Amino acid sequence: MPRPSIFSFCFGDAGEWRIASMRAVVGSAPPPAERLAVREGVLADQAGFVLRGTTSNARYSKRAELDALAARQEELGRPTATRAALIPIRKSEAWWALAQDERRAVMEERSRHIAIGLDYLPAVARRLHHGRDLGEPFDFLTWFEYAPEHEDAFETLVTRLRETEEWRFVEHEVDVRLVRD
Ligand code: HEM
Repeated sequence: MPRPSIFSFCFGDAGEWRIASMRAVVGSAPPPAERLAVREGVLADQAGFVLRGTTSNARYSKRAELDALAARQEELGRPTATRAALIPIRKSEAWWALAQDERRAVMEERSRHIAIGLDYLPAVARRLHHGRDLGEPFDFLTWFEYAPEHEDAFETLVTRLRETEEWRFVEHEVDVRLVRD
């Protein structure tokens, strides 16, 4: 696992990704913007709305799950993956009051998050960023890249996850869809 790295997601009128849609699934939506720039590091004088998160070690995955993920997952930045989704999520105080083993039980034993996700690899490439310990408005910035022919599969994936017990702990969720053009 590489050292943690902070990423900045900058909403504005510049950036490699065009914002195709942005909606609040739960809670309020960010201010409207045309484009998104994803940059490694904390940018000094970045104007506009910026969300930040850091990569980290896995918290809940078991060895067999990490091995299954590693065997199937693709890297970000594939030329064919011209679609992306940024889904910022904040979970409730009830979630954070649980113990590690209780959160794992909700997430995997009962919600099958990793098992469901594995169904969509290698079509979807992903990176998870943590924002809670940075004092960010979202606990997680989840990032996904896929080819246009896998858009429907990605829709099915998010629908399946949002029906789980884990998602009852989600109190703020925004869904930003992006096109690289
Ligand atoms: C966490 C896999 C899709 C939201 C995780 C973790 C894994 C995983 C392994 C746990 C990391 C750890 O052990 O700490 C996958 C796979 C997916 C997928 C293989 C298929 C592409 C999604 C989607 C969303 C999402 C579509 C959002 C709609 C999250 C969040 C966390 C997470 C918020 C952090 C949960 C927490 O720590 O409380 N995912 N996931 N995932 N995933 Fe997914």
